[in-house]
Amino acid sequence: MKRIFFTLICLMLFKTIFAVEGMWIPALLKKFNIEEMQKMGFKLTAEDIYDVNHASMKDAIVLFGSGCTGEVISNDGLLITNHHCGFGQIQKHSTLAHDYLTDGFWAKNRSEELVNPGLSVQFLIKMEEVTREVTKGIKEDMKEDELKTLIASNIDAIKKSYAGKSDYKVDVKPLLYGNQYFAYIYEVFRDVRLVGAPPASIGKFGGDTDNWVWPRHTGDFSLFRIYAGKDNKSASYSPNNQPYHPKKFFPINLTGIREGDFTMVFGFPGSTQEYLPSLAVRLLIEKSNPNKVDARTIKLGILEKQMAADPKVRIQYASKYAGVSNSWKKWQGETKGLVRLHAIEKKEQQELEFSKWVSQDTQREKKYGTILENFKKNYAELSDIQIAYDLYNETILRGSDVFGLIARFDQLAQLVNDTIKFNRQKKTIAEVLPGFFKDYDGPTDQLILPALLKLYFERVDPKHLPEKLISRKSDLINSTWVQKIYKKSVFADSLKIRSLLSGISAKKLKKLQKDELYSLYTTISDYYIKNIDPTFQRLSQEILKTQKAYMAAILEMKQDQRLMADANLTLRVTYGKIEGYEPMDGVYYQYYTTLKGMINKHNPNIADYVVPEKLKQLYQARDYGIYKNPAGELPIAFCASNHTTGGNSGSPVINANGELIGVNFDRCWEGTMSDVLFDPERCRNIALDIRYALFIIDKYAGAGYLLKEMNLIR
Ligand code: ARG
Ligand code: GLU
Repeated sequence: MKRIFFTLICLMLFKTIFAVEGMWIPALLKKFNIEEMQKMGFKLTAEDIYDVNHASMKDAIVLFGSGCTGEVISNDGLLITNHHCGFGQIQKHSTLAHDYLTDGFWAKNRSEELVNPGLSVQFLIKMEEVTREVTKGIKEDMKEDELKTLIASNIDAIKKSYAGKSDYKVDVKPLLYGNQYFAYIYEVFRDVRLVGAPPASIGKFGGDTDNWVWPRHTGDFSLFRIYAGKDNKSASYSPNNQPYHPKKFFPINLTGIREGDFTMVFGFPGSTQEYLPSLAVRLLIEKSNPNKVDARTIKLGILEKQMAADPKVRIQYASKYAGVSNSWKKWQGETKGLVRLHAIEKKEQQELEFSKWVSQDTQREKKYGTILENFKKNYAELSDIQIAYDLYNETILRGSDVFGLIARFDQLAQLVNDTIKFNRQKKTIAEVLPGFFKDYDGPTDQLILPALLKLYFERVDPKHLPEKLISRKSDLINSTWVQKIYKKSVFADSLKIRSLLSGISAKKLKKLQKDELYSLYTTISDYYIKNIDPTFQRLSQEILKTQKAYMAAILEMKQDQRLMADANLTLRVTYGKIEGYEPMDGVYYQYYTTLKGMINKHNPNIADYVVPEKLKQLYQARDYGIYKNPAGELPIAFCASNHTTGGNSGSPVINANGELIGVNFDRCWEGTMSDVLFDPERCRNIALDIRYALFIIDKYAGAGYLLKEMNLIR
């Protein structure tokens, strides 16, 4: 008994020590984290992770596209990221004849690698705190507008001071709600080619059914290669470009992982909101999440039917479906997790303590005394505006494809007096049109529009809707009527719209008001922009200002504590351990999955669970080569307690020696609320075991020649 008790205590200690909340700033690891990391097992130094003067891990990591991470794994610029991060590219190269989504794609040599216009990757050259420079000249009594102008001009000056090299990009971003600023210098590479991707039955195994869920069997990876000019510098696409030689690339460790091992994830987490007040969390749980979820449920229901009925539509909408479904599911998990954690009550408790702390000192009273009141006033007013905002976003702006296209023409119409901008916008539209119609199915769009309009009318308070439309509601939500206006509209016809665009003029744009789809869109959006948006913007500004003061107060109140800055799509380090978890009383989830589990999931009747034939054969032969674990099984994925978020997809999962052991791709269902509130007991990131990726490349795809350029540690 005593023994059991002792182990229990140890286990509990072990757990609380292991999961570390926070996404930390690489340049500040030395000050805040490295000691703890080393205690947890990390064997290298802060400079091995981030160093401006010598090659370090950061030189092997990129912001992939606009919202994923990737890491370099060879001296020839070979890059690994998630399948779902490369999904858009893989899909764009796919047709019914070359269906790379279904069959996978493997370049047999470098000349077969596929070019991806518009895709870029960015390496961080350095980051520097510039709070003093950004806040220079700020005076206590400055008006909001003055303050904004001053900060903007300071930021401009900072950017200029860094300027020089042409393909370096400088960003200055606020942290801790503007209580701190950092400058980030990136080198941007624009010639990034697709090298390989497994079939969706591997890269997306489990699909949206298993998305956000552990245990998991998704082979979520794809391979790209960065190309550079002859001088190894960034260059726009040219057939003469050469593979980029990075300052550093990750060695790959094949010796395996164990529960309790140190892990870190190094990548570009997009956004978190760990310091929201209780009222914001309430709005999220009670209104924002449910409305957004309901809008997407409608859209996904229609897409599902249409995609199942027609293989062409399936390919056209695969990427869109995945995108819509992803947040839809996460919001539901997030709400559940926040409710389970009693997040509102927890935040209220914190606010009580905060008030107490403020009232202990008259100086504090003066500085911070109105914060909670301000939140109360502004969130009360925001409440029903938020509904209008969320539903406008979900049903009008991102609802039907055709409204998205019309929005671009509407922007064009606003630019008739600015020739340069007008021509630029015209060019952009001309560029997106072919892709738009490649992935557009009229009948599908015609179902989505009225279904979403119906929700818009039902949920948004009539006082926030254009009167003109309320009286026409029955038409607008009637699919036969909607079909009719599509038929008459130029926007649903690729030839007509192309010819309209080529001869476009101010006069022709005016005439578009006669197009009923166009006038429907502009009636709603003009109304929104005039009547809802200003209030929404004003309240958001007010709340942001209050949140900045709240953050400053928290920083003061917790001076002796280490506080994380919310994620802002800049390079961060998060660390923890490989560990399973208890999703519910009486159940423990193991930290890894294997091919055996994937084979068990196989079901010919469920599209998400169909295991490709060749993989089954490899399983039957247990042909795992050097990729099996000590038990003779082929590992697929593992989970660990690293605090990650969207944007961390594709991030390297790194062991104590700085070697690649996995590629991050998801979080577990029970932990999706970690963007708002982290729970060390249940928040886990999900990673692909790198051995599985290599197994697929080598044994499944027969692309083993790619392994030759990697540095494998066995
Ligand atoms: N949930 C993961 C992330 O947030 C994966 C998304 C892609 N997969 C999918 N089945 N839609 O990006
Ligand atoms: N799949 C996410 C991404 O695309 C990572 C999962 C998460 O949100 O933690 O970044």
